[in-house]
Amino acid sequence: MAKRDYKNWDKNDLIKEIEQLRKRKKYGLVWEDKPENVVEQCKTELPVLEEVKSKEIITDPDKPMNLLIEGDNYHALSVLNYTHKGKIDVIYIDPPYNTGNKDFVYNDHYVDKEDSFRHSKWLSFISKRLKLAKSLLKRTGIIFISIDDNEIANLKALCDYSSFFGENNFIACLPTIMNLKGNNDQFGFAGTHEYTLVYAKDKTKAKINNFNIDEEDINSSWEIDDIGYFKKGANLKATGTNAPRYKRPNLFFPIFINKKDLTVYVTEDNKPIRKDDITLLPITNNEEMSWRWSKDKIKKEPFNIIVVKNKDGYSIYKKQRPQLGDLPTKKPKTLFYKPEYSSGNGTAELKRIFKEKVFDNPKPLQLIKDFLFLSTNKNSLILDFMAGSGTTGIATLELNKEDNGSRRFILCTNNELNGVGAKLLEEKPNINKDDVGICNRVTYSRFKKTIIENK
Ligand SMILES: C[S@@+](CC[C@H](N)C(=O)[O-])C[C@H]1O[C@@H](n2cnc3c(N)ncnc32)[C@H](O)[C@@H]1O
Repeated sequence: MAKRDYKNWDKNDLIKEIEQLRKRKKYGLVWEDKPENVVEQCKTELPVLEEVKSKEIITDPDKPMNLLIEGDNYHALSVLNYTHKGKIDVIYIDPPYNTGNKDFVYNDHYVDKEDSFRHSKWLSFISKRLKLAKSLLKRTGIIFISIDDNEIANLKALCDYSSFFGENNFIACLPTIMNLKGNNDQFGFAGTHEYTLVYAKDKTKAKINNFNIDEEDINSSWEIDDIGYFKKGANLKATGTNAPRYKRPNLFFPIFINKKDLTVYVTEDNKPIRKDDITLLPITNNEEMSWRWSKDKIKKEPFNIIVVKNKDGYSIYKKQRPQLGDLPTKKPKTLFYKPEYSSGNGTAELKRIFKEKVFDNPKPLQLIKDFLFLSTNKNSLILDFMAGSGTTGIATLELNKEDNGSRRFILCTNNELNGVGAKLLEEKPNINKDDVGICNRVTYSRFKKTIIENK
């Protein structure tokens, strides 16, 4: 569109034009860039990293060094841009989700649901950090970002901008099942998942590994029909204390089998359609029992029954269909699910180490291990600048242990006082506030305890 020259327009025409522009539909993301203290501070003072020798944990001086940075990640990312520009292979972050429930601190205040700049503040916060983070990635680098419904739409739109990662570098948005049972506190639907956004710095150079799965083994244990995979499930004859006919009289009726194609059917008058069709009754050791399925269900789902011919005649079984996670593939599926990804596993792991609750919602270790397994090689350098309890670091150590790798990590987290730390401070006002912040009390201690445990 040709540029307009507004110089000679009069005030009324300009106002009309502005009104028109305001009415125009906009495509993309618009937010108010809210100034942030730590960012402003960086404009006049250069942040520096200070080594704390007394906190060094040395296990093997020949092994590569890992780094835990305590402080605001804007400062840390600014410094890392001097030391590690273009050197990071994989970034994983699990930022505050901006739930409005005391999870996101902006300029030293929690951002609540009523804050009309709630999303603008979050976007200002994450956009500044993502820009710095992107320049730390190698050309082959990949970023994984955990997020939930509060900011997924904004984050995706932000990352799709070419000045961030760009839609050409979008790899996947993985619904990540972390609570298969479902969270019943949510309105209308029981929440089961979060998301993981995956972007490449340059998708033409990036690589995602396969899982180590023996697909032939999986395929050989499942058969396939028009509906999908199945295997032989339970016998349709009921067992147990409620199985006898007198307890479930409605579930005692004949099921017929067509000898030619081994299909099953039931009839209203309990008589077979053809004279030579097989009649089956739920009788076990001469005792009249019942079927597991009603006549109605058999009428609706005859295709979900398997007929097996054996030496004593015929038996019928339910077709067992695969559940979520039963059919893994080498190429990771976009629906990310394993029972080990349950968020309860993250909490249980931390409780096992600390013997008490020290942190809300740590990520399950296996989830982060799988992200790293799919995106790193044995020498990768991994960064998590929203490290929280340090799961990404522990996942890196565990992967190295499993494949004798030399991956290294850089973690950064602030020493924010979480709910648990605040309670501790209230109970014991004489303790040093710094000692009960997340970085000291949770992240650093977790490494110390884990390393001692593994010695
Ligand atoms: C959701 S938690 C991450 C949990 C982590 N994935 C785990 O498994 O434990 C987000 C973390 O980011 C940290 N954080 C938030 N804003 C930060 C900032 N500006 N600088 C450094 N860390 C920050 C918080 O302290 C919090 O621990």
